[in-house]
Parts: sequence; structure tokens; C-alpha cells
Amino acid sequence: MWLVFALLFVPLCSGANILGLFTTSTKSHVIIHMGYAEALIAQGHNVTIVTTVPLKDKNPKYHHVLIPSEKDYKKKLEEGLTAVSNDPSPINTIKHDINNYITWTSNQYHAMRHEKLQSLLKDNKFDLMVLGYFFNDFQLAVAAQLKVPVIINWMQSPAIMLNTYVGNPTGLGYVPHMMVDAQQPMKFIERFGSILMDGLSYSIEKFLYYKFDQYYDEYVQEFNLKDMPSFDDMRKNVSLVFCNSHFSEGPIRPNVPAIVEIGGIQIKDKPDPLEPKLKEFLDNSSKHGAILFSMGSNVKVSTLDPKIIKTLYNVFSKLKQNVLWKWEDPNPASFPGNSKNILFSKWIPQDDVLAHKNMKLFVTHGGKGSVVESQYHGIPMIGLPVFGDQPGNIDKIVKVGYGLKLDYKTMTEQELSTAVNEVLNNPSYAANVKKFADTYKDRPLSARESVVFWTEYVIRHHGAPHLQSPLVHMNVIQQYSIDVLAVIFGALYIVYRISKLCICFVWRKVFGKKCKSKAKAKKSKKE
Ligand SMILES: *[C@@H]1O[C@H](CO)[C@@H](O)[C@H](O)[C@H]1NC(C)=O
Ligand SMILES: *[C@@H]1O[C@H](CO)[C@@H](O)[C@H](O)[C@H]1NC(C)=O
Ligand SMILES: *[C@@H]1O[C@H](CO)[C@@H](O)[C@H](O)[C@H]1NC(C)=O
Repeated sequence: MWLVFALLFVPLCSGANILGLFTTSTKSHVIIHMGYAEALIAQGHNVTIVTTVPLKDKNPKYHHVLIPSEKDYKKKLEEGLTAVSNDPSPINTIKHDINNYITWTSNQYHAMRHEKLQSLLKDNKFDLMVLGYFFNDFQLAVAAQLKVPVIINWMQSPAIMLNTYVGNPTGLGYVPHMMVDAQQPMKFIERFGSILMDGLSYSIEKFLYYKFDQYYDEYVQEFNLKDMPSFDDMRKNVSLVFCNSHFSEGPIRPNVPAIVEIGGIQIKDKPDPLEPKLKEFLDNSSKHGAILFSMGSNVKVSTLDPKIIKTLYNVFSKLKQNVLWKWEDPNPASFPGNSKNILFSKWIPQDDVLAHKNMKLFVTHGGKGSVVESQYHGIPMIGLPVFGDQPGNIDKIVKVGYGLKLDYKTMTEQELSTAVNEVLNNPSYAANVKKFADTYKDRPLSARESVVFWTEYVIRHHGAPHLQSPLVHMNVIQQYSIDVLAVIFGALYIVYRISKLCICFVWRKVFGKKCKSKAKAKKSKKE
């Protein structure tokens, strides 16, 4: 009986061989891609993951290929990030952002050509490739080489770079650009700024296209690949884009069927048990609650300006709450103090910790992943943003009343202490974020169920050309029908000129005078 049932529910494509190309070196991105992979593994697929960062918590069920980064890679990035966190002025940030993008991209090109990946491709048959997107779409060459459909996994809401693959509308003037902090519907000045930023993103995309096209062609030549579609063809052959966003977070925007929202994919439906020491520490916090402090995986708190560390320590150590502090150096001699209410830990399973019932506040750098996890578990925040999208993420939090923002470079003990007490004691922050959590989680399919359904859908149909938007094959002039508008206005102008001629003709016949325009008539009157 049960066997019959089991057989009935065997999906059509169980046990597919899926290649996850996640070569970005940003750990927070890899965590999101791993959420995607975990959902497929749980469904019984054979997922092979390629990364350039070592994976914590290895799932014994997946195959992992670790590709070493380029020489000097880590050093280059760390120098850049430390420099930005110590001087986050706009010019310095932009300078280092550009340098980092170049370093990131070249490392991903290096990973793609690495012999470990090449032998994996040679010795195995795959049914699908998933590309973890981060300025690396030249890696679409791998899908072309394998002749398999390709899905893109992206860490944020749909952005211009992603929209072009599947013909998703930009929403010019009504969907605020990622970097523009505006409420919908946007005011004139906000629409103006947003459209300018869209234009800028569009130009950057075009610029990268030329660079990445070269990478693509170099790769095809280096490995002597035959019958390869062009880079442009491959960009138009992306079956689906998974976006780690959900409409309940806003902005509201139109999405084509090939954009599938899986916001919160990195969050487990049920948290894993905590290791005994963490569990005891958090369970112990039932009276006053617990606070988590983490600056994410890119900024090492232990390398921050000692003045900042002192401010944080002096405030946290005076609280009644227990504080769990992410501190990279495991050596107790490096800790800023030994207050009883603070536990320093190098590795913190953030999602599981935020899910703990005693958790009251998250002091965070405001990376998208952290903000989503905190919102998902209904925990209010204090944001200490450093760079990139972090200030924007935190501004949004403040605006919707989920928490407060401080400048970690300049904050005083008084300011930090006031903020912490405000968020802990004013119940509105927790109430707002809990209300959001309820709408965020209320979906027909959970993020993990969506991943499984749509990934298997693409495998079942060998790609998804039938849900591709026609915009993929139209240029900007066609997309906005500028050519049609030009014809209409041209025709209207011609009709206007012809009518004018006819009227003048009749005028002359009736009055026997010349037909003059108003301006000309006035002029001749004066004369
Ligand atoms: C799963 O994928 C790996 C490649 O990483 C391959 O060696 C293995 O044979 C595959 N297993 C099955 C059952 O197809
Ligand atoms: C596009 O993808 C489909 C499905 O994988 C494949 O059959 C087709 O050859 C691809 N076309 C190009 C131009 O790569
Ligand atoms: C939890 O509380 C008990 C009793 O007060 C104490 O003995 C223990 O050390 C605490 N554990 C942690 C991890 O703080």
C-alpha cells in the first residue's frame, strides 16, 4: 500500500545531476546559494557544488569541489575591505568597490579555467547548471560546453543585470533603483534620481558585457570548444532567475514568469539544534533576553579601530541582557574583556541563534542576508552599516520601524547605549518586525518548495523557452516602442501640415487674402 503511494509521488526527474557553480568568494552569497542547493539535495538530487571558499557544515550528501583562489587574492581583498571600513568616505568606497569588482571577477575567471573544474566537466554528465550570479556571466560558457539548461541564482531583488536575461521590465519611474531609497509611488525628484541610476546601471552592464564577452571567447579558444553558441546567445538562453526577495519586502514590481521569488531561501524551515555552550548561554537568558552582535563575514571586528571595540564592550558589558558577540580570534587573550554577560564566539550559526526564543535584538552590519534572517525571525535591529548595500538596507529598516541606525565610526557610548535601550524597551520595534514576519512567511509554496518545483520544471522541459519574455529579443528602441511613437508623431505632424495647407487654400479662395500665422500677422500689424 505505502509502496504504491510512494511510487505515485516519485517526481518525474528525481536524482537529476545538477552542477552549482558558486565561485563568488563572498561567503554571505555562498550561504544563499547553499540554501538553494540544500533544498534540491533534500529532494534527492545529486548536486555538485563548485566554490572558491571552504564550506562550513558540510552536508555529506553533496559533492563539493573546492577551487583554490588566485595567489595574493585574499590579501588584495582584505586590504581593500579594511581600508574601506576604516575610511568609508564615498570616494574611498567607490575606489575600493571598483578594485574589488576587478579582483572578484578575475578570480571567478580563474576558477572557471581551473583543472579541477575542467576534469569534473569531462568525467560527468549533468542535467542542469545553476550559476550563482555575481558579475560572472561569462561562466555561462560552462553551460554551453555541457549543453544543459541554465538557471541563475541571485541574492537580491531583480536588478538591471538580471532583468536583461529574462526580459523583466525595469519599471522605469515606478520601481525605485536598488540604490535609491524611496517610497512607492515615487515623487518627481525620486523618479528622476531612480531613472538616472537605472541609466548608470544599464551603462555599467553594457561596459561589462564587452569585457565578459572577451572572457567568454578566450575560454572557448583556450579549451578548443566546438559548436559553441555566442556569449550573446547564451545570455538570451537563461531559463529562470531565482531572486532572493519577496514582494512583501517591497518595492512592488511586475515580474515575468521566468523570475521566481525565493526570498529567505537561506533560512531553514526548522532551526538546527545549537551546540551545547551556545544553547546554554541563550537558554540562560530567559529573564532579560539575549542580544546578538555580528558584523558579518567580510569585516573582522577584531581588526576594527580599538576605540570602536572599547565603545561596544563598555556598553554591552553594562547590560542586563546576555550578549553573543561574533569575534574572529578564538584566543581569549584577544577578547576586549571578560564580562560575564558576553560570550565571544568565532562561528555563530546566525539563523539558528536568531530563531531562539530569548533573542531580543540583533546589532548588525546590515548585510542583506542578516537583515532578511532577522526580519524572518521577527527580531528588531540596530544597524552599523559599513559599505555596499548595507547603508541602504539599514535606512529601510529605520524607515519601516524595525530598528535604528548608528555610525559605528563616530558613535559614543551614550549614543549606543540609548539606542540599545530604546529598541529593547519600546515595544513598537519588535511589534513592527513581527508583523512583517507574518506576511513574509505566508506563501503558497515556501522558498524551498519553490526552488524544488521550478528547478525540476526546467529539467522536465529541457529549458523553459515557452515562458521567455519577448523583451529578451528586443532592443531598447523596440522595448519602449520608440520607433512606433516616432511614426505616430511623424504622421501627426504631416497631417497637421497638410491640414494647414488646405485651410490656407480655402481661406485664400474665400477671402482672397494671403493666409498668415498669428505671429506673422501680429508682426505685420505693428509694421
Ligand atoms: C553525482 O555527481 C558526482 C559528480 O560530482 C558523480 O561522481 C556521481 O557519480 C553522481 N552520482 C549519481 C548517482 O549520479
Ligand atoms: C538554449 O537552451 C536550450 C535548452 O537547454 C537548448 O536546447 C538550446 O540549444 C539553447 N540555445 C542556445 C543558443 O544555446
Ligand atoms: C548558565 O547559568 C548557570 C546557572 O546560573 C551557570 O552555572 C552557567 O555557567 C551558565 N552558562 C553559560 C554558558 O553562561
